[in-house]
Amino acid sequence: MIGGGQGAFIGGVHRMAARLDGLYDLVAGALSSTPEKSIASGRELGLADDRCYPTWQAMLEGELARPEGERIQAVSIVTPNHAHFEPALAFVDAGFAVILDKPMVHTTEQAEALARKVRDRDAIFAVTYNYSGYPLVRQAREMVRSGEIGEVRKVVVEYNQGWLATKLEESGQKQADWRTDPSRSGVGGCIGDIGSHCEQLVASITGLEIDKICADLTTFVPGRELDDDANLLLRFKGGARGLLFCSQICVGGENDLRIRVWGTKGGLAWHQEEPNRLLVHRLDQPDQVYRRGNGYLGEAAAAGTRLPSGHPEAFIEAFANVYKAVAEAIYAGAGADSPKRFGFPGVEDGARGVQFIHRTVESSRSEQKWTAL
Ligand SMILES: NC(=O)c1ccc[n+]([C@@H]2O[C@H](COP(=O)([O-])OP(=O)(O)OC[C@H]3O[C@@H](n4cnc5c(N)ncnc54)[C@H](O)[C@@H]3O)[C@@H](O)[C@H]2O)c1
Repeated sequence: MIGGGQGAFIGGVHRMAARLDGLYDLVAGALSSTPEKSIASGRELGLADDRCYPTWQAMLEGELARPEGERIQAVSIVTPNHAHFEPALAFVDAGFAVILDKPMVHTTEQAEALARKVRDRDAIFAVTYNYSGYPLVRQAREMVRSGEIGEVRKVVVEYNQGWLATKLEESGQKQADWRTDPSRSGVGGCIGDIGSHCEQLVASITGLEIDKICADLTTFVPGRELDDDANLLLRFKGGARGLLFCSQICVGGENDLRIRVWGTKGGLAWHQEEPNRLLVHRLDQPDQVYRRGNGYLGEAAAAGTRLPSGHPEAFIEAFANVYKAVAEAIYAGAGADSPKRFGFPGVEDGARGVQFIHRTVESSRSEQKWTAL
């Protein structure tokens, strides 16, 4: 693991998710931004002394120096966004499977270079868009893709948080500090941090490709450099329309991620804070609620379910479904086509996400789209 040291947020979730099915052991790490903290974090997690590395460069060198069969097989990169590209490129190049958190990298050039490297090295590469791992998101995908709700006409996706409603970064809070700094977060604030999840969720469920974006990004908290609120109109190829909005200033918003999809024959609604239910609408019929763990669900949902219905599964299990699919690809000796074969988000999803963030920022800066009353 790279990142995820003392005081970090998502690294711990990755460790729990990776271990949930007994398919991974954490054996080496360069876990923090300073050598001292990296080593201390590794020791705290019980890593062998010679595999608590001061930096990711030292880890790469140290692991390559070990005999084949005694090296790491995969690396999880869970650093802030600015520290994604270089280690990801280097570990792919050295022949390791890479599991990287979103947004994949800062620029579209970096995204293209990484995608090229993954193809050239025929590498296993995953981006942890973890929401696509929820059983009922997989069910929604299967239902939309098999035409159960007809041709998709409209999608509304939203992600409302309130934790950045005040200038939390001034307190030195670690996660707020880098997320509001363009040099570490990238060109997008809220749109990159959580809007990227919205974009991927739409793509994962519907398969629709965004054709055009009309975006309005706002920074509500004075003195903040990046957007903390985003409202987008979407036009998809083929004619469907969408709304995507996300915010980190919606007081009371926790991880209020919701998606609704309407087609010519029906509709679907899923809410991350109640992830074990999927509301299904059908023309001229009463609504139905599909629930996780029941026999009427499809194969993909069943494969991502560990407990009987009624025993809640949620965030960590959905995350673990991404890890499990990557492990299956590693055990099968698969390569760059593994996201499609094993069903996890890959470098193409990551690259599309980076493109989405940049085009959104561009659209928001251009005033041409607005018509005055
Ligand atoms: N998929 C999700 O749901 C989800 C949720 C939260 C965060 N994330 C993503 O995960 C990443 C990390 O976010 P976070 O909230 O855990 O951040 P964080 O600040 O809590 O943790 C980042 C960790 O990386 C370490 N680090 C920084 N530079 C490093 C370097 N060069 N080498 C080694 N370690 C280094 C830091 O010391 C820290 O331990 C971000 O890209 C974020 O967008 C994804």
